[in-house]
Amino acid sequence: MQPTTIILFGGTGDLTKRKLLPAFATLLREEKLARGSLLIGIGRRPLTHEAYRHSLVTDLSSPDQALLKDLQIFYFQDDVGQTSGLQTLPAFLQEHESQSSNRIYYLATSYTLFPNIVQALHRTHLDKHTGGWTRLVFEKPFGHDLASSDALDKAIHAVFSEDNIFRIDHYLAKETVQNLQVVKFTNPVIDTLFHRALVSHITLTVDESLGVGNRLGYYAEAGVLKDMIQNHLLQMTALLLMEQPKTLTNGALHTAKVEVLTHLHVAPAEQHLLGQYQSYKEECIQAKIAYTNTATFAKLVLTCSLPRWKDIPIILRTGKKLPKKYGQLIVHFKPLSASPYPEQRLAENQLIIDVYPEQDIRLRMNTRKPGTNILAPVNLLFSPKAHFGPNTSDEYATLLGDVLRGEKMLFTRSDEVQAAWKIVEQIEALKNKIPFVIYPDGTDPEQKS
Ligand SMILES: NC(=O)c1ccc[n+]([C@@H]2O[C@H](COP(=O)([O-])OP(=O)(O)OC[C@H]3O[C@@H](n4cnc5c(N)ncnc54)[C@H](OP(=O)(O)O)[C@@H]3O)[C@@H](O)[C@H]2O)c1
Repeated sequence: MQPTTIILFGGTGDLTKRKLLPAFATLLREEKLARGSLLIGIGRRPLTHEAYRHSLVTDLSSPDQALLKDLQIFYFQDDVGQTSGLQTLPAFLQEHESQSSNRIYYLATSYTLFPNIVQALHRTHLDKHTGGWTRLVFEKPFGHDLASSDALDKAIHAVFSEDNIFRIDHYLAKETVQNLQVVKFTNPVIDTLFHRALVSHITLTVDESLGVGNRLGYYAEAGVLKDMIQNHLLQMTALLLMEQPKTLTNGALHTAKVEVLTHLHVAPAEQHLLGQYQSYKEECIQAKIAYTNTATFAKLVLTCSLPRWKDIPIILRTGKKLPKKYGQLIVHFKPLSASPYPEQRLAENQLIIDVYPEQDIRLRMNTRKPGTNILAPVNLLFSPKAHFGPNTSDEYATLLGDVLRGEKMLFTRSDEVQAAWKIVEQIEALKNKIPFVIYPDGTDPEQKS
């Protein structure tokens, strides 16, 4: 296996330590990343190579620490916000990199630095690597609106081709999200159920119990619409609603998702709800960050004008400091027009797909309680944990493994990102008219409104 040089912008950041290092350990364990590969972390703070290595591995489990001994880890101090950025990186690479290495430039920094980094790679000829392939990975968010995301694409495409660009949305690597297309496209019965004739509405929920934490600086600008809706929620919507592509290849899958995203419509303002958890203001004061009415909660109603879904409400809900952390997609089916048991309350049929903490799939239906004439709702349950054992896959290891293989299915294409920004911009245009609640921490804003 050819070694890979991973040049990690944001090498001293939270994401690197918490997510990327354990993922590299997994890839080494699974022999998907060659031993002896090079990891060069880039940041502004002064650090020796030794101090950097120590800071990266110190919180990892001992098996992961042992695995990472197979990576050559170096630190490269640079301010990539400056026009002189990366000037000495080619010489550094020449000293440490083997002649025939692939290269990953992983941009785990703010998107505001993406154009500078790409231009610096071009200026220093690091875009013309001949020892192996070169791939670029961009963390989310990809811009802060349609115009900035478009400008980013132009700046990046001026140097690198879309083939080599991997935009991360780590929800796409979640087990349930990957399972969606299998469940939909290999079970004709499910495909038949997914139709406006049978479906009353669809809900996609990603509730979090924690607050913004140490990401306040970023979150104050982004809020829930840019942090969660633009990417994770709209990507899951696209996967849930899309028609089967002719082939399950990169291009066709992305095109099918774009088809959904470009047919989504935002309902009138009064149907949505935005909110902010009560202690958010105090958190801003403590952190000396200007307090604004940044939304930490959103319930949004969309419709899709594709024939299969026309006029069916699609309800997205996500937020912070809510009563419980869970992710769930539910297809709600229409009730019977006339019940043969008019004296009893029938439960709504639902197909429930858990995103986390479980990855179960349940079909809710009515049945008869044995020995009585009482009707009771039950769930037909598929539990992957019970059937296949615990899911030990790691989302970032899956994504990085795909970057190494050049497989782009779990990454977003530029037209998908842009279509999602267009939807967010439509919601933002309504913002002043959307009801807004301040909700006590740990409570449900929909109960308050
Ligand atoms: N953390 C997460 O859980 C998470 C989840 C999803 C997506 N993300 C995305 O991942 C990216 C990184 O997030 P993070 O949480 O790791 O941020 P972070 O902890 O604030 O780290 C930012 C990194 O960028 C480096 N940096 C900033 N300005 C620089 C400059 N001018 N030149 C060189 N390096 C610079 C910092 O290094 P120095 O401080 O040493 O300069 C640090 O390594 C963001 O795009 C974020 O949205 C993060």
